[in-house]
Amino acid sequence: MANVVVVGSQWGDEGKGKIVDWLSERADVVVRFQGGHNAGHTLVIDEVSYKLSLLPSGVVRPGKLGVIGNGVVLDPHALVAEIGRLAAQGVSVTPENLRIAENCTLILSVHRELDQKRESSNSGTKIGTTGRGIGPAYEDKVGRRAIRLMDLAEPSILPAKIERLLAHHNALRRGLGQPEVAVETLLEELTSVADKVLPFMDVTWRLLDQRRRAGDRILFEGAQGALLDIDHGTYPFVTSSNTVSGQAATGSGLGPGAIGYVLGITKAYTTRVGEGPFPTELTDEIGDFLGTQGHEFGTVTGRKRRCGWFDAVLVRQTVQVSGIDGIALTKLDVLDGLDEIKICVKYLLDGKEIDHLPASQADQARVVPVYETLEGWQGTTRGARSWADLPAQAVKYVRHVEELIGAPVAMLSTSPEREDTILVQDPFRD
Ligand code: IMP
Repeated sequence: MANVVVVGSQWGDEGKGKIVDWLSERADVVVRFQGGHNAGHTLVIDEVSYKLSLLPSGVVRPGKLGVIGNGVVLDPHALVAEIGRLAAQGVSVTPENLRIAENCTLILSVHRELDQKRESSNSGTKIGTTGRGIGPAYEDKVGRRAIRLMDLAEPSILPAKIERLLAHHNALRRGLGQPEVAVETLLEELTSVADKVLPFMDVTWRLLDQRRRAGDRILFEGAQGALLDIDHGTYPFVTSSNTVSGQAATGSGLGPGAIGYVLGITKAYTTRVGEGPFPTELTDEIGDFLGTQGHEFGTVTGRKRRCGWFDAVLVRQTVQVSGIDGIALTKLDVLDGLDEIKICVKYLLDGKEIDHLPASQADQARVVPVYETLEGWQGTTRGARSWADLPAQAVKYVRHVEELIGAPVAMLSTSPEREDTILVQDPFRD
């Protein structure tokens, strides 16, 4: 049985929502294994649009179990609000269809405030975060002072844990000129929500192991993209978790052998939100064209996304680092009507050719993309459901992408509608 990991192979926003939904119909269990409510997945089912940030996509489908794994950072108030929004759309989220790892780290108001304070200062440290407190929560996890979900079930030790956490945060807050936070304030923040989230708590590593042994299909739903990975991304302009496929094991508590197939969601061009290097960025009318045609505005923050040509160097690197078996190529239709299309095939660094993005921040800012130019196509690819429906030049573009990145196209998505998908290779192959 091949369990499937879905990861973004660029800087996020590759169109994971539709593909994850397509796959979750075929899965029994859908697991989030990193990130938090910084993610934004839009699912369109029977013409109803659902916006998810924290919940695994499976929860909107009857009979599926959603799991929030230990690798996620969980804002309990954001969770309750998201469950409420879904309830208003007629989707019921209960412990029947959602379980949360007992050892999941919590995001608190002090994390959100610290994130936003750092981002608003003019100290040259701006990352362009989503302001949700993701980074500070992971800092506390690694600093061994985090409050975890299970702590809400232990009122006798919670105040001492909060006191320990605040010894750190109040020192930071004093330095940043912010008022200190009292233990009672955080205690109230947590106790007010405990009854609403504790019913979902479970030993999820054990549950997942049982479901795996029973032959259930597990879909691991990655958030953000591989180039935002804390180790392998464009550091420091990254998120604070590992977003590569290996994290599916660590962030859910299963061994790496549980992963059968890695699907990299890949947009037919490139986008990025927030600060950081972007070698193929277009600040001209073609960049505007891609942004307009592709509706490139953030699901979570509404920010305008930066747009550029497809960067085969970066995706090839991601294919290698994440062990991607096949890609789902999305938004090909956004390129419809362009006279010519460029693909970055290598970089020049100080005049010398290189075949990968260097790890150094200074080098990343200096690389110059080297392009190949392909003829565009005038017909439309939108809504195509077979290769025969695609203009010949579009097929040529897709084949060239496969060759350059060293991975086959397993799925081709030609519109936000789930039926507009060409399946080449089923990631859940038995
Ligand atoms: P953080 O995850 O809020 O700390 O933000 C760090 C970086 O990751 C910023 O550049 C964000 O724009 C980016 N980021 C975080 N989540 C997403 C996402 O779901 N899609 C795209 N970019 C994201």
